[in-house]
Amino acid sequence: MRVIIETDYAAMSRKAAGIIAKEIRSKPNAVLGLATGSTPLGVYHELVRMHEKENLDFSGVRTFNLDEYYRLRPDHPESYHTFMFKNLFDGINVNPANVSIPDGMAADIGLFCESYERRIKDAGGVDIQLLGIGRDGHIGFNEPGSSLGSRTRLKTLTEETIRDNARFFDNEGEVPHFAVTMGVGTILDAKKLLMLASGSNKARAVRDAIEGPVSAQVTASVLQLHPNVMVVLDEEAASMLSRSAYYIYVERMAEKFEAEAGT
Ligand code: PGA
Repeated sequence: MRVIIETDYAAMSRKAAGIIAKEIRSKPNAVLGLATGSTPLGVYHELVRMHEKENLDFSGVRTFNLDEYYRLRPDHPESYHTFMFKNLFDGINVNPANVSIPDGMAADIGLFCESYERRIKDAGGVDIQLLGIGRDGHIGFNEPGSSLGSRTRLKTLTEETIRDNARFFDNEGEVPHFAVTMGVGTILDAKKLLMLASGSNKARAVRDAIEGPVSAQVTASVLQLHPNVMVVLDEEAASMLSRSAYYIYVERMAEKFEAEAGT
């Protein structure tokens, strides 16, 4: 696991966008796994800028989003569908036919979840999956207690997640209590994982995920089982890690090797 600690949110966002851009430039038909929430906003802003100013081409890219609220219409202002078009897809040249977001309105959610898994597989799997982390250590909406082998399914949100997400809605009563989310096992199938966290309110979850035991109580801790993980943090989110000095040293060495290898 590479743990990259940047000074602040803007630097974290630029670093993560650079990693995604490198993936797209080396594989123009890359399959991106995408996330919603406050954390990836800066990354999406930077990707739109790179598209406009640096010819970053999304025309061959395919995308799969992690999750969507259950029974929130796609055109609802707080649906993840609306979020993705507003914050990323409308600003880049991705083909809307290549965009997949779970359908929280599907008549048969079980059947839909199976088809979502199949679609990811048929696309050749996710090349790089972007992830945020909840204060309860969730990835996607895999709340504490989610099976570490779980696949795309309907999940019940915790009270903490509902409270955290209430800031986007007029009041807490409007926040859906259920979501359709890729499972932990689905996320682990991606070839690379890129998790971001910013702010001191994420420091405990980040510490538990990176340095704690692997546990279904902190589903992000499953990243420890994946062979290709990058975690990009700002200093506040990294503030409870006990091995920060070592992570920083490793990154300095990696940069040195990359410079010497001319990559
Ligand atoms: P946030 O959400 O980026 O809005 O903090 C992250 C998450 O809950 O996964």
